Order: sequence, then structure tokens, then C-alpha cells
Amino acid sequence: MQHPSTAADHAWFSESRFGMFVHWGLYSLAARHEWVKSRERLTDEEYQPYFDHFDPDLYDPAQWARLAKSAGMRYIVITTKHHDGFCLWDSSHTDYKATRTPYGKDLIAPLVGAVRAEGLRVGFYHSLIDWHHPEFPVDCHHPQRDDEAFKAATAGRDMAKYTDYLHAQVRELLTEYGTIDYLFFDFSYQGRPGRWGGKGAADWRSPELLAMVRRLQPGIMVNDRLDIPGDFLTPEQYQPSAPLSVDGREVAWEACQTINGSWGYDRDNLDDKSPALLVRMLIDSVAKGGNLLLNVGPTGRGLIDPRAERTLGAIGTWMRSHSRSVYGCGPSDFTAPADCRYTQRGDRLYLHLFAWPFAHLHLPGLAGRVEYAQFLHDASEIRTRIIDQHQTADTTTMAAPAPDSLTLELPVQRPDVAVPVIELFLSPGNSGNPAP
Ligand code: GLC
Repeated sequence: MQHPSTAADHAWFSESRFGMFVHWGLYSLAARHEWVKSRERLTDEEYQPYFDHFDPDLYDPAQWARLAKSAGMRYIVITTKHHDGFCLWDSSHTDYKATRTPYGKDLIAPLVGAVRAEGLRVGFYHSLIDWHHPEFPVDCHHPQRDDEAFKAATAGRDMAKYTDYLHAQVRELLTEYGTIDYLFFDFSYQGRPGRWGGKGAADWRSPELLAMVRRLQPGIMVNDRLDIPGDFLTPEQYQPSAPLSVDGREVAWEACQTINGSWGYDRDNLDDKSPALLVRMLIDSVAKGGNLLLNVGPTGRGLIDPRAERTLGAIGTWMRSHSRSVYGCGPSDFTAPADCRYTQRGDRLYLHLFAWPFAHLHLPGLAGRVEYAQFLHDASEIRTRIIDQHQTADTTTMAAPAPDSLTLELPVQRPDVAVPVIELFLSPGNSGNPAP
């Protein structure tokens, strides 16, 4: 699946492990989910007030980039256009863009500059779907899907013309903003049951589009939603139960997740995941060879709302003392005990404790393989021992754990961090596959 010529350029992606997704556009003003136009079957006219009042006067991309960086994120992916068709950059192919709103300025150029200035990678999300373009054929997701008169009047829409527009805009985005590291196309839905008018590779002319993308930005990472293979898979709002593979080979992937279930700013939705849960999701991704792309939905004023900011702050607090178990780490061949996740980088094995056991934790397969153990957050030693295999249970003596186990001696007090991590220094020659 990976293109051999670009594999080296893609190393940053797995090394980074953690990125910020930003969904921002006209729907941020409605503040009730980015699909509001479709969900409420709004006409262009009914949606127009959001365009007429779009004026994010507090937009400060440098602040967004700093926030992402201090949360430990290494790349930012911004919506250049979502399904409503509104363009955040000054496209020469439409007037439905930020520069024609009261705000009057391009939103993408300053963000790209700010992201780079913080040393982060730049990614674009671009919607394949367009509920505003006059040639985009009405289908099962379109806001006017139930409007028979509208459907009859628009029956002659020419997909090819829309696709020309799509390609022209992608060309613009990939030529006018310097190096773009990442592209997230969204999405294909051809042949999915019940989804009439669904669109896929033939509609988007995906092979041609992807070839152009790679020509314009040879090092770019492209996702898998063009209905043809890309460079990484994109499980959305769920955590896979194991590393992901295609044709038996493990592949790069990235779980995209929201804080509260909505991508766009959703004022009355208070279903926020706790920072600790989000940290566990990040660790869970890395332990399975994936990344986490965590979303924020800035407001119509251009601010990342205080709740999201607090959540990112708490994640950043954990990352400051634990990022060593995240960056450049991946799955381990060792099997983690219950309620734990391992990540590994070379001879460092990181044990993440999702629950706090009493006093002892037995690590199967690690007897004689660990040189030293410490908490990651404060580098305090964790004592280890190998329990004699003949030891049997007695009133105050535990039975021997599974053969080959290393036993950790834990304090009663769980460290006051979102997820405690124990760093295990594997002895030379022991970082590879455990003995069968
Ligand atoms: C989707 C949704 C969407 C969101 C995206 C993020 O498929 O249509 O609103 O932008 O996934 O992955």
C-alpha cells in the first residue's frame, strides 16, 4: 500500500503519533454539528446567514499552533472545505469563500505559516462532497434529498464538471501553500447499502486526482477515502482492537476522534471525553501501531473553546513527562498484562497502567530480560523480582506467577498522572521477539 519512493518521507507520520484535527467553517456559527445543512435539510438560502455573518475576529492561528504543540501534537490538519462547500482559502474557482465574507481574508495561509513556525507538520482536510456546487448531483446525503421539485430541476447536473472543479481546487491548495505534508480526502460512499447516488473513485476520478497530488507534493501522505488505496487507514470515532493490516501486511493508520462526538463546534453538546480517556486512546493507538488525530471545532469568533483548551492542557501535562512512550514508539511483541498497554521503541518497553493494581504486577515473558525499571514521570526506581517457580500460596505468600514472569513491586499510591507509565530498560539482545 505504501509507495516505495515516498516511504522515507512518511517516517515523520509514525514518529509523530499525535496530531490535531480542526473542523472550522460556516457551520461553526450554527454551532450544532458540521452536518447541520444536511441534517436539517437547509436550502442554500437558509444557510446563507452563516456566510453573511462569518467574521472570526479573534482568529489567532499562532495561538492554535502553540496550543497544539503544548498538547504534544506534532501536526495540524485543517478543513480547507467541508461538505457544505465553503472554502477557507481564496480560491480563484468560486466566490463561496472566506475572502467574500465580512471577514474578508484568507484563513489558510496564516495557519500554514503559524503551524510551520511551531515546527509542526501541515495537513489539509478536503471534502470530496459539496452541498453548494451547482453541478454536484443530489444524493442520499444532500440537504435537498427529499425535495422532489429540487431534484427534478437539478436532474441534469454534470458530475464531470464538479470533478473538474474538485481537481482544480486541490491543485490550487497544493501549489499555493508550499509543502503540504498530509491530505485527508472525505469521503466515498459508492455502493454502500441504502446510499443512493453514492459516489466513489469513478466519480472523483480518483487515480487521476491522486496522481496529480503526488506529482505536486511528492512526499505527501494521503488518506484512504478516495475509494482507492492511500498511505494510511482512517478509523473514525472507534479504536481498532488490533494493529491494522492490508493483505496480511501491517499498515499505517490514524484514528480520528472528537472530544464530544461532533467535529464542528457544537455549543450544547457537553458529552466531552475526559482527558484521561483521551490519553488512554492515544496510548491505545500507539500500542497498535497507529496515530491519534484529535479534533477541535473552533467557534465562529475563531477561538478554540475553553473546554477544549482545558482538555488539551491536561493532555499536554501528561505528554510533557510521558511523550517518550509515544513519539517514535509502536507495538511490542511482548503481551501486556490485563488493563495495560505496551508501547516500545528499541530497547525501551513502556508499560501503561490503565488500572492500578495492588502491590504486584506480573509481566509474562520478561523474567531476565529487564535491566532496570522506573516510573516515567519521575524516574523513580521500580523494584523487580523473579519469584521462585516452586513458591506455593500460603497465608501471606502468593503463588508463583506464570513461568518466565517478571514481578514489579508497586507503591500503594497510584501516581497522580492521567496514566502511569513504567519504563522498562530491556537487557541487550532482548528487545526483539520474545521466546516462543
Ligand atoms: C466524516 C464526516 C465528517 C468529518 C469526518 C472526519 O466522514 O462526514 O463530518 O469531517 O468524517 O473524519
